[in-house]
Amino acid sequence: MSITVVGSVHVDFYIKVDRFPLVGETLLGRGFQISPGGKGANQAVGCSKLGEETYIVGRIGKDFSEYLLANFRNVGVKTDFLKIDLEHNTGVAFIILNTSTGENMIIIDPGADYWITRKDVDDALKAIVESDIILLQLEIPLEINMYVSEIAFLKGKTVILNPAPASKLPEEIFKYVKIITPNRVEASQLTGVEVRDLNTAVKAGKKLIEKGVEYSVITLGSQGAVLVTSDKYIYYPSFKVDVVDTTGAGDAFNAGLAVALSQGHTIEEAVKWANACAALKITKIGAQSGLPDKYELEEFLRKNQNYQMKIL
Ligand code: RIB
Repeated sequence: MSITVVGSVHVDFYIKVDRFPLVGETLLGRGFQISPGGKGANQAVGCSKLGEETYIVGRIGKDFSEYLLANFRNVGVKTDFLKIDLEHNTGVAFIILNTSTGENMIIIDPGADYWITRKDVDDALKAIVESDIILLQLEIPLEINMYVSEIAFLKGKTVILNPAPASKLPEEIFKYVKIITPNRVEASQLTGVEVRDLNTAVKAGKKLIEKGVEYSVITLGSQGAVLVTSDKYIYYPSFKVDVVDTTGAGDAFNAGLAVALSQGHTIEEAVKWANACAALKITKIGAQSGLPDKYELEEFLRKNQNYQMKIL
């Protein structure tokens, strides 16, 4: 089976600093690098590296098309339905990486991401039909996410929505989404519950289930993640690793979740894989270069076989 990711494709401009600049301050950075990124692209690359046949559906500009297509080719992501927009530039992200903490600040110009059309989605129907899982984020217009979710739902597919970056969502979308994976900020924005700890994460997760999803998976950064289903709440502590770069941790998480489900694992096991993928990602620099492959994930899970999730 395959996975289809409909979403953003960026070029990331990274610069490293020892601390974030103050407002109005000019700070010396170092280690400038250009690398492929975008939440959609990162999640597609993550799925492919973990061994699943993966399609990316979206738009890029002509400016970086060769670079990005070659990158997708190298990791085996299928680009049959990735369109080159001749009128708009590729989306870009400016990423300031604080090497003291591994935290980042990101500013995006979505460029061609925002010009994806319903027709692009219709043209990619073959990928959607072939896939068992459709993975979405919020870096393309909401209207397109609504359109894809409805089509995928009607075709009996599992829709996973990673609601990042934080945005308001129409209530209707929750009918079509089976699994939602917000972080603390996104969960707070979607539910009105301020997520501060496990209790408030469960409360927010339950609200999302009331809205119509089957599973909420709230990610809590260095605290791990919480899975909320209609009848149980499970806490997944984070794996202990050395944090180098948290950029793309959420993308690694969603890729791990989608691949585990696509391979027939339970949601409980899939969240463990997701958590492991995020842990592996943050030990390396780069949104995509740090994404684990299936061998790294297998070895990591073997080494951490005593890992315990906790029923709350
Ligand atoms: O999730 C990380 C990604 O967010 C980066 O690659 C950047 O392009 C932004 O979309």
